[in-house]
Amino acid sequence: MRKAKMILDRDYVLSRVDKRIFGSFIEHLGRAVYTGLFEPGHPQADEEGFRKDVLKLVRTLDVPVVRYPGGNFVSGFNWEDSVGPREKRPRRLDLAWKTTETNAFGLHEFCSWAGKAGTEVMYAVNLGTRGPKEAREVVEYCNHPGGTALSDLRKKNGAKDPFNIRLWCLGNEMDGPWQMGSKTAYEYGRTANEAAKLMKWTDTTIETVACGSSSTEMKTFGEWEYTMLSECYDNIDYVSLHRYYGNPHNDTPDFLASSINLDSFIRTVVSICDAVKGKKHSGKTVNLSLDEWNVWYHSNQQDQELYKREPWGSALPLLEDVYNFEDALLVGLMLITILKNADRVKIGCIAQLVNVIAPIMTRAGGGAWAQTIYWPLMQASRYGRGFSLLPQCASDLMDTTHYSDVPVVDAAAVLDDRGAVTVFAVNRDLKEGAELTLDLRAFGTMRLESHSVLHHDDVKAVNTEENPDNVRPRDVPAYMEDGKVILPAASWNVLRLIPEKP
Ligand code: AHR
Repeated sequence: MRKAKMILDRDYVLSRVDKRIFGSFIEHLGRAVYTGLFEPGHPQADEEGFRKDVLKLVRTLDVPVVRYPGGNFVSGFNWEDSVGPREKRPRRLDLAWKTTETNAFGLHEFCSWAGKAGTEVMYAVNLGTRGPKEAREVVEYCNHPGGTALSDLRKKNGAKDPFNIRLWCLGNEMDGPWQMGSKTAYEYGRTANEAAKLMKWTDTTIETVACGSSSTEMKTFGEWEYTMLSECYDNIDYVSLHRYYGNPHNDTPDFLASSINLDSFIRTVVSICDAVKGKKHSGKTVNLSLDEWNVWYHSNQQDQELYKREPWGSALPLLEDVYNFEDALLVGLMLITILKNADRVKIGCIAQLVNVIAPIMTRAGGGAWAQTIYWPLMQASRYGRGFSLLPQCASDLMDTTHYSDVPVVDAAAVLDDRGAVTVFAVNRDLKEGAELTLDLRAFGTMRLESHSVLHHDDVKAVNTEENPDNVRPRDVPAYMEDGKVILPAASWNVLRLIPEKP
C-alpha cells in the first residue's frame, strides 16, 4: 500500500478560487460550432439552432467563462464578417485550419448561446493580420451603449443592449511561427500595449490578457514573457499560458507525471511577471490565464488524412480526440495543479468544449455524450469553489522516464462557504492502492460525507455514444478511520468532508 499525508488547516488559505479557472474554449474549428453548439434542423435544436442536448451538458459542467472565437483561427478573422444578416455574411478561407468558414454563426449568436449556457464571454481580437484599430472597434461594437456608428450598428443587428464583454484576449499564440502574423516578443509587446490602451480607452471596465508562450517547449519561452511584458505591463491584466500533453509512446506513468511540467510552467511565468513588476517599480500584480490546456494527440494522424480527402471543407471532424481513462486522470491532475496555484492562476480554459479536443462530443443529427475527461472537470467545477487551502501534502515518490520524485498521490483541497472541505486526489500508482491520511487539525471533528471514485481497470477505456457511462465516477462507501482514506490504484477521488454536528 502506498502512503500519503495531507495537512489541512482552515487558517492556512492559499487564495479564494476564482471560479473562472473552470472555464472553457470554443473556436471556429472543426465541429466545435457547426454540429457542436449549432445545428439548425437537429431534433434537439432550439429556435436559434442551438443544440439543447449540448447546452444541458455544458450547464451541468457549470462553465463560468468561454473563450471565443479562436485560437489560431482568430489571427485571420474579421469580426465584421460575423455580424449582420446571415445571408450577407461572406464565406472565407481560414488559413489556420485550411477550411472554409461560412460565418453562419457569429458574434451575436455566440453571445446569445453564452446567455443560455449561463456563461461569460471571453473574446479574442485579431492581432495577427489586424491591429489596435480593429481591436478597439470590436470593443465599441460590443460594449458601448449607443449613439455611435458602431454601437448603433450592433443595435441594428438586433442587440439593443451592449454585450458587456469584460475579458479580452490580445491575439493568440503570437510567439508561434504557425500563427498568421506571428511576431517577435518586442513587436508583439508593442502591438499588445497599443491595442490594450485603445481598448481600455473605449471601455475602462474591461480586462486584457496578453499572449505568453504557446508551450514550455518554445525556444523563446521565458525571454518572450520578459520582453513582451516589459512593453505592455501597465495595460494588461493577465498573461496567457497554453499547454497540451500527449502519450504517443504509451508510457502511462510518464504521461501522468506531466502535470509536474505544468506546475513548473506556472511558477516560472509567475516569477517573470513579478520580475517585470520589480523592474518597473509597479504596484500592480499581473496574474495568469491558462486559457488553453488539455490532452491533445489522439487525432493528429487522422487529421492529416482528412485534409487530403477534403481540402478547404467546412465543419470537418478535426481534432476529435477520443479520450480514455488515463486522459481523465491527467486532466484531474492538471485541475489539482491549477487549484494549488489558485493565488496566481485566475482564468483557466480547457481546450476546447465541444467536439474539438473536448469533454463533450456530438454526432451530427445524433446524440451528445460526455467523454471521460468531462467528469473530473465537472466535479472540480462543482465542488472546487471557495478557498484553496495551502497544499501541504507529503507522499511516497516515484520516478518516471522524464520526471523524478513524482508524488504518487497528488491532491488539493478547497474549503467552501458552508464550511465543507473537498479534497481532490489522484493516485498515480497503476497497481497499488494508497492510504491517504488527512490531518484536519483546526477543523475539529469532520465527517467524510461522500467519496466519489473515477476508476476503470483498463486505462484505455473510452466513452461512446452507445456506451456513454463506461467511464464515470461512482460513489463508494465513505469510510475514514483516524483520518485515513483508501484511494484505489489509478484513481481520481473526490472526498467531501463536513463538520460533525456537536
Ligand atoms: O485548441 C487548438 C489550437 O491549439 C488553438 O487554435 C491554438 O491556439 C493552439 O495551438
